[in-house]
Amino acid sequence: MHELIERVLISEEQIKTRIAQMAKELEAEYKDKNPLFVGLLKGVVVFFADMFRAVQIPCELDFMVVSSYHGTESTGVINVKKDLDADICGRHVVILEDIIDSGRTLSYTVEYLKSRKPASLKICTLLDKPDRRETDLIADYVGFTIPNEFVVGYGLDFNERFRNLPYVGVLKPEAYS
Ligand code: IMP
Ligand code: MG
Repeated sequence: MHELIERVLISEEQIKTRIAQMAKELEAEYKDKNPLFVGLLKGVVVFFADMFRAVQIPCELDFMVVSSYHGTESTGVINVKKDLDADICGRHVVILEDIIDSGRTLSYTVEYLKSRKPASLKICTLLDKPDRRETDLIADYVGFTIPNEFVVGYGLDFNERFRNLPYVGVLKPEAYS
């Protein structure tokens, strides 16, 4: 285990098992629909790569870079730093996310994409922190519901570090100093 990790919250094995289960559900729902999996960079990359390879039906991928204006209270605006390449009109879209916290970023992203008239739009997140929710956003597929704790690993960072840990864990206090 990494020296700055206090405790592993979700092991590599647990993640692998859960992804296989979710992939089966996605395959059943999207068979013959050629879904477009949209990843919100950067945190999702690790989950995205594993999830996308687990889904054994015809499907495509695309990415967006979106940020919400945190800090000051929300303006209802997102900053789209990189938009989709694909035209999603009439497509079945599944947004993949690493973690839903307040839900603000994703709520705005959903509204933004809905205006382009996809045939359907669903959300699949590895982690969900429902206690922190500030919007009425509900994910359609949730890997693990976790308590209100800051986690790193498996794509999730603290100041851009720890994304390459193969598990999801909680940092020791000294990691923040
Ligand atoms: P929100 O749902 O708009 O509040 O923001 C979600 C984003 O905040 C995620 O995509 C992560 O980048 C980041 N985030 C939220 N909680 C955590 C955490 O526990 N660890 C690392 N990043 C987090
Ligand atoms: Mg993120």
